[in-house]
Amino acid sequence: MNDTFPIKKRYYEIIELIKRADYHYYNLNQPLMEDSTYDSLIIELIDIERKHPSLKLEESPTGKVGGVVSKTFSEVNHDPPMLSLGNIFTEEDLSNFDRRCLKNIDADDELLYCAELKFDGLAVEVIYEDGRFNTGATRGDGLVGEDVTANIATIGNMPLELSGHEIPDFLSVRGEVLMRHREFERLNRIREDNGESPFANPRNAASGSLRQIDSRISEGRQLEIVFYSIGKVVSNRSIVDQMQMYDYLTNLGLPVSEHIEYGNIGKIKKFYEYWLVNRYRLDFDIDGVVIKVIDFNIRDRLGATNKAPRWATAWKFPAKEAITVIESVDWQIGRTGLITPVANLRPINIGGVLVKRASLHNYNEVMRLDLRIGDSVRIKRAGDVIPKVIEAIREERPPDAGNINPPKRCPSCNTGLVKEDIFIRCINSQCIAKRLETLKFFVSKNGMDIESFGPELVIRLYNAEKLETIADIYRITKDDLLQLERMGDKLADKVISSIDSRRTIILSHFLRSLGIRNVGDHLSRVVARAVGGLNKLYVMEIDELILIDGIGPEVAESIYEFFHNESSLRIIKDILDAGVIVHDELVKESVLDEIRDRTFVFTGTLQGLTRKEAEEIVQKSGGRVTGTISKKTDYLVAGDLPGIKYEKAQGLGIKIIQEDEFVMMIGEKKWE
Ligand code: IVH
Repeated sequence: MNDTFPIKKRYYEIIELIKRADYHYYNLNQPLMEDSTYDSLIIELIDIERKHPSLKLEESPTGKVGGVVSKTFSEVNHDPPMLSLGNIFTEEDLSNFDRRCLKNIDADDELLYCAELKFDGLAVEVIYEDGRFNTGATRGDGLVGEDVTANIATIGNMPLELSGHEIPDFLSVRGEVLMRHREFERLNRIREDNGESPFANPRNAASGSLRQIDSRISEGRQLEIVFYSIGKVVSNRSIVDQMQMYDYLTNLGLPVSEHIEYGNIGKIKKFYEYWLVNRYRLDFDIDGVVIKVIDFNIRDRLGATNKAPRWATAWKFPAKEAITVIESVDWQIGRTGLITPVANLRPINIGGVLVKRASLHNYNEVMRLDLRIGDSVRIKRAGDVIPKVIEAIREERPPDAGNINPPKRCPSCNTGLVKEDIFIRCINSQCIAKRLETLKFFVSKNGMDIESFGPELVIRLYNAEKLETIADIYRITKDDLLQLERMGDKLADKVISSIDSRRTIILSHFLRSLGIRNVGDHLSRVVARAVGGLNKLYVMEIDELILIDGIGPEVAESIYEFFHNESSLRIIKDILDAGVIVHDELVKESVLDEIRDRTFVFTGTLQGLTRKEAEEIVQKSGGRVTGTISKKTDYLVAGDLPGIKYEKAQGLGIKIIQEDEFVMMIGEKKWE
């Protein structure tokens, strides 16, 4: 008999029980069991499915077909209460915080602190009894939160059982539930496709997902949990400081942050400064750093107010919003001829960045916000995106505020503009501004992603008459570059090698660079995966394009039009004539994700495949191959007798992988 048999039996039993419970709850309105019993069945089910994935039935209540959870949220008391944190904003505030802590414990020595990221997610408490996950709740008002046990159980990195040798009888731990940016964008794309309004930020998305009554919806959305404090623990083991606490949590298998610093106040300051600049490198939002006294004894002596502990504080990052004045409005021409109003602002520093301009999107937006020149406006800057005008401060409008009038003629070529719905467009195909924007887009990060080839270089090469069409990019020589002012030998080499790294690309990458209307990075991949090769796109009908999963009529139409338009076909032909090779989209998604947009360098002799084959695999998967090691290199693949590149990579701390690791990465079988 198979040893999974008793588990299988139990698995079917639970599914049956849950189905019955759902029926009684929904159809008969007579709950069959306590919420907590129901939750523990769900947890057990998820646990079995994680340990024995082969048992998982398609109709499992944790899957897509069935429905989990049958209750509105019940209440959970937090014991002790989940306190909030005081805020500080400046270095001076930090010194005051340090001084206050020292004074309160009558010490004049240095105090040691730990600094952690302040996660911008949703605070939760999670309870384990005898090592098993039992209850999960939101923070609520700090005293009472909502029971979201079944939803927390579906979080991918949430342990349903503690591990290790020191399992406590009881443990409540606190932490944050987060949504990573990539997931946030995926979710919003789906919402927009379904005609739902997108979530404003990952925190709202995480909160909305966690508080879904139906936990199969939370499961469909990938959330993550990270723990940072203990509420209560019943165990023989004593924990005396934050380091021990993190060791303890880690040994129990609980996920904690990778970024924690311990030290004196000077070190804490450095940690803050580092993350202030580098927070955008993270794939999730943080809104500051949290500073905590390390020693638990000292924490007890410092105590807490009824709101927040005296031994911790949050050093918040500066606001990403500010108020300034619209000084004038320019009308910018996009590559498709769309004319967009851009506000020139009285320069203002928002969170360390000097902001001078903000997009107003379209004329309707100008009217919606009722903007005038001279208005004081609230500006928001989020991440790397272009600052946005949120509202005008009506009370501060000067009497001579000027109207913002849309132009009648193209500011670049003076052709009469065409009004299309809420947009104004220049339809002159010879318009120089449009051509320059097309070129700028093609080389940009969202296009072909040719490093060191920015918008200024496009303009300089255009003015030098070396660049007029996209295909010209592939004909640029080092000499052409060296003739430009302020162009050194090194930079010229870099530009040429970036262009070279883009002579062979996969179809999805090529498509997104063409700037087809409505077809960005995501849809390019969808289309490329569905059609395979470029040649197919010349002959596909709109009806066939619509059949692709994820493609609507509007997108199908713009793809069709693009591939049946003489001038765009000429552009493609020119690019191909210039020697660009567009590979079919063949690669499995899992392979693509590890290699896509990564830069590889090879050194030494490979055994199992030729250098050329290896390079082609990287290129076909959307990665880049370059000949020299630089800070931008992601992987050095080392064969036998590696050359000097090996030491250089070591020196720069670049990840070095051996041939067998590379083969694992590309998934050997997929290349047969
Ligand atoms: S410690 C009493 N550590 O910030 C200790 N909180 O503004 C309080 N938060 O409600 C929690 N990251 O949701 C702590 N590394 C971190 C945190 C963190 C985010 C949140 C937490 C809390 C809020 C207070």
